[in-house]
Amino acid sequence: MANPSSVPEKFTVIVTGASAGIGRLICQRLAGKNYRLVLAARSADKLAQLEAELTTTGCECISVPTDVSDPNAVEALVKTTVDRFGRIDVLVNNAGIECFAEFDQLQLDQILQTIETNLTGAIVLTRHVVPVMRAQGFGRIINMASAAGKHGPAYGAVYGATKAGLIAFTQGLRGELLPVGITATAICPGFAKDGGVYDEIVKATGKKTPFLVGGTTAQKVAAAVEKAILTGPPEMIINFPALRPIFLFRDIFPRLGEKLILAFTFKFLRRAATRKK
Ligand SMILES: NC(=O)c1ccc[n+]([C@@H]2O[C@H](COP(=O)([O-])OP(=O)(O)OC[C@H]3O[C@@H](n4cnc5c(N)ncnc54)[C@H](OP(=O)(O)O)[C@@H]3O)[C@@H](O)[C@H]2O)c1
Repeated sequence: MANPSSVPEKFTVIVTGASAGIGRLICQRLAGKNYRLVLAARSADKLAQLEAELTTTGCECISVPTDVSDPNAVEALVKTTVDRFGRIDVLVNNAGIECFAEFDQLQLDQILQTIETNLTGAIVLTRHVVPVMRAQGFGRIINMASAAGKHGPAYGAVYGATKAGLIAFTQGLRGELLPVGITATAICPGFAKDGGVYDEIVKATGKKTPFLVGGTTAQKVAAAVEKAILTGPPEMIINFPALRPIFLFRDIFPRLGEKLILAFTFKFLRRAATRKK
């Protein structure tokens, strides 16, 4: 467990996928509080805009344009952070892409890009960050998974596979690193309104979210990340209605549980998969 003397007064936080959506909201939420921020994503112009905005709140912050699917860029992100701030207290692996489509219509490069961005990128970045946290005797790793990682969505098998992988990665890492003061947390949102990729899906399909997986907002997800930084829990499912009892029911009654989940989600997911992009 973390030695209290190893917990810093001000946390240095890397947020990937900071240029848009939930990542951007996480940064806006943390700025002006006790955090130094390192903003990472591919779009240098959007990061520079956000950096300028957050700096006006008094936040110490740098932007480091990074493609998380590029192992060299990921290593450089860690080096730049340590050179500038001397430590890394929190890593938020938030960068992610979706690829909802009929599975056999997916191009091979879409499949690989989704895995490399959502899963391999997060693992490789964490691999570079953990030695820094281990030397500090403190760290928080927060992985943005999804409810799709708790039950693979129809038309989102590859996306769901990356998020399930991220959940298992978080669990394994946590078990190994808790004794040295490092926690790992998986955040599992349902479809989040008002910021993020899901807004585009709703706009394109013209349909409301299914009741079962659609009662959260990007702001609530960002608030959950802040709570995870403060308390380091294993897993947070962010959705209304509560999904944990539904997954429990599915685990006990797999066929019935699957029917229930498909009854609420199938039509919407099919529309999402066949929307014009
Ligand atoms: N929105 C939801 O309803 C929802 C629900 C469950 C889980 N999630 C998860 O939450 C995370 C954020 O989603 P969002 O809704 O905020 O999506 P978004 O609005 O599309 O933002 C995605 C972010 O990821 C970055 N990104 C994509 N590919 C990248 C790469 N190769 N390297 C570095 N950055 C990359 C994007 O920036 P650049 O394009 O500039 O690189 C952008 O900043 C994702 O992991 C997503 O799977 C979202």
